[in-house]
Amino acid sequence: MVETLRWDGSILWILDQTRLPLDIRYEPCSTVDAVAGCIRNMLVRGAPAIGVTAGFGMVLAMKQGMADNVPDIRSWMHDKAKLLESTRPTAVNLAWATRTILDHLDRVLNTNDAMAQIESLASKIYNEDLQRCRRIGQYAAPLIPRKASILTHCNAGALATAGYGTALGVVRRAVEDGKQIRVFADETRPFLQGARLTAWELMQDNIDVTLITDSMAAHFMSLGDIDLVVVGADRIAANGDTANKIGTYSVALAAKAHGVPFYVAAPVNTIDSDCPDGSQIPIEERSIEEVTHIGDIRVAPVGIKVRNPAFDVTPNHLVSAIITDKGIVKADYRTSIAALTELCHPDDRSAPG
Ligand code: MRU
Repeated sequence: MVETLRWDGSILWILDQTRLPLDIRYEPCSTVDAVAGCIRNMLVRGAPAIGVTAGFGMVLAMKQGMADNVPDIRSWMHDKAKLLESTRPTAVNLAWATRTILDHLDRVLNTNDAMAQIESLASKIYNEDLQRCRRIGQYAAPLIPRKASILTHCNAGALATAGYGTALGVVRRAVEDGKQIRVFADETRPFLQGARLTAWELMQDNIDVTLITDSMAAHFMSLGDIDLVVVGADRIAANGDTANKIGTYSVALAAKAHGVPFYVAAPVNTIDSDCPDGSQIPIEERSIEEVTHIGDIRVAPVGIKVRNPAFDVTPNHLVSAIITDKGIVKADYRTSIAALTELCHPDDRSAPG
């Protein structure tokens, strides 16, 4: 797989996912503002990937602040963290990364090698994300039959993480285990992450993938063509309610109606223990052009009223299990999630606020 991003010590190279699958091009970012622009405009997307990206954005902020001799580096870094966090409000991994860096900054600010320490923390966040994805795949293994047809929504793959993927990490692990796996990828209107990214990513790895429109998912379930669903998550509340790409909720409803297991795969830093339930998860609304246009082509009348929430919330009772890098949790989620996050190192937990 191509790399989602690459840090060369002074520039963050971000794979421009808006150009995929037609063109592989990297956007060089040498300032935190440029990084924020790439996240906002979805050159990089997917909750873990934008968390990792924001970590390097904080490194660039610190380099800039020190080069410009800003009088109060701590408040400069807090402002830049706010800027990054405002770009995509639903994915909690982003705020987790910026707060993890800010906490560390408080500990190292008065040391000689503060800059090097912040840079090494950002690299650690990147490397750990890859390991987290592999552990998710490992924990999921007993849930995946030897022969399975798996439906997924959006892209929760290598492109949405530092590599390997969460939902697609589950698929990759099953394929590595020699299982006979077939994937159905929802195209994922309006931004088409399924058609553009999941389809391409799985084809790169020679994994059997069939592209369907979102409205076909229930039909294929009714035919018995889907054995299980695996999706990623942008934020999981303390009670297991899960925000993910718009359309995930309808997939979960259809899965329930047809007795198809519905799994959420996500690292523990996607769990927001301070968020009591799904009603408290901020839902990002994006530009109307994502709905009125496909690419550059207008498909809806000029002047039409449009809504474009980028995420929806799947209530916990529709989720068969949540597969994390620390283990699998099932209902009662409030209890099982509390026990899981209690086990985690403080650096693993979601940031407050
Ligand atoms: O708007 P996007 O493309 O950032 O949305 C991505 C998703 O909804 C993913 O499923 C989620 O972030 C998990 S990615 C491992």
